[in-house]
Amino acid sequence: MAKREEWGSRTGFILAAAGSAIGLGDVWRWPYIAYSNGGGAFFIPYLFAFLTAGIPILLLEYAIGHRYRGSTPLSFRRIGKGFEWVGWWQVAISFVIGCYYAVIIAWAISYTLFSFGLSWGQDPESFFITEYLQAPAQPSGLGGLVGGVLIPLLVVWGITLFVLARGVKRGIELASRIMMPVFFVLFILIVIRSVTLPGALDGLNTLFKPDWAALTDSNVWVAAYAQIFFSLSICFAIMVTYASYLPKKADLSNTALIVGFSNSTVELLAGIGVFGALGFLAAASNSPVTKVVDDGIPLIFIAFPTLIDQLPALNQLFAIVFFLSLVIAGLTSQISIVEVYVSALREKFDMGRTASVLIGGGAAALVSVAFATRGGLYILDAADHYINEIGAVSAGLLEVVLAAWIYRQIEQLREHSNAISDVRVGKWWSWSLMFVTPVVLAFILFDNLRTELFGARNYEGYPTDFLLRYGWMVVVASLVFGVALTLKRWNEEAIDLGAAREVGA
Ligand code: ALA
Repeated sequence: MAKREEWGSRTGFILAAAGSAIGLGDVWRWPYIAYSNGGGAFFIPYLFAFLTAGIPILLLEYAIGHRYRGSTPLSFRRIGKGFEWVGWWQVAISFVIGCYYAVIIAWAISYTLFSFGLSWGQDPESFFITEYLQAPAQPSGLGGLVGGVLIPLLVVWGITLFVLARGVKRGIELASRIMMPVFFVLFILIVIRSVTLPGALDGLNTLFKPDWAALTDSNVWVAAYAQIFFSLSICFAIMVTYASYLPKKADLSNTALIVGFSNSTVELLAGIGVFGALGFLAAASNSPVTKVVDDGIPLIFIAFPTLIDQLPALNQLFAIVFFLSLVIAGLTSQISIVEVYVSALREKFDMGRTASVLIGGGAAALVSVAFATRGGLYILDAADHYINEIGAVSAGLLEVVLAAWIYRQIEQLREHSNAISDVRVGKWWSWSLMFVTPVVLAFILFDNLRTELFGARNYEGYPTDFLLRYGWMVVVASLVFGVALTLKRWNEEAIDLGAAREVGA
């Protein structure tokens, strides 16, 4: 058994974990979700979700990774035989997410380059959909490859696999040490520029004006929890993996608080920046802010180019800084997502890091080409919706129920964390995980399934056979993949935690 790789320092781990959490989800998803779910009033369910599920699960995953010292499937296997498949299912979910997440980063790379000449012209919407993505008006199938997406996609995979092949300390940690400070500087520049634009205040008023009635709507609470999971990178195997590289002496609770709060701070600032800019766009185009706000992906690739065109000065610079910060935020998250299956495959098949990077990462790179086709935009939309709303929520619910109720780990893990951390967590942590989180997750899952199966219309109005193929099938395939990998037997020595601890593996 080889000695386990470790982070070089606590700061390195914090930067890598924050880099994983802070990603595309913070910059495009949060502002739109907050706005469409009660604006200022959304802070209440968001904060509630953060405290009752975000921080507790983040700390749970740190404690599992640190105590059981393995990738998610191995750590879960060390807890109990019947737990491993949930780990593999989460790995498969990460695999799917990594495939399309890479494509959104590829778009952002293209847009960074387009920013030099403001190539989107007068009509950013038709530029994005028709000229750049060459997407048909309706979802159909894959269609031909789109070279303009494929080339930056290869760059994304090249960077990701190169960083991962260099290992935890010389690869992931070093990349996070370089990229995260650059991201923070670029991001602060954008926020400052946005809030000083004429009309910005109207945008902020739109975001923060509380719609208190929203608090009685269960969908708003569901949206708050879903946002917390995606954005903190919890329940898809990332944080267990990252925590498994911590040294014996590590402050878990403090680190969870730092990562959790820095992610939420970025989200809040992203909301301020994006809505300040949209307020400007509304003022410039003489329409109310509510008219210029659109759904997730268009918000970045359509609304932003539109408003960049209207800026009084330094248009190119603002555009470059904005899209580059998106690329960097995305890359640090992408690296963490791919490390999930690199480490899991490596342990199960007893292979070296380079081999698992080439096999695991290489397979994901190949699959992701499906999203670089003319039909890619719709396929991405369907896969993202189902793998998160059904797959990740189900796998997260199973994780919490198995850890809390079947394998009764919570008190042990609380003691484990308290023994090594500065901030000691009280019983509230156990109660959140045993009662609040499972109930809320079960409700979210039930609500999502009800909407999908019995809702008045299909998701985004897409045809049923399309959703079956690229939504439901993806969820089922990830589950089948998870179960299949569980059936492959471990080398007994690999799952022996005592032996692993002895040699520091
Ligand atoms: N946590 C990552 C994000 O927010 C996946 O994009």
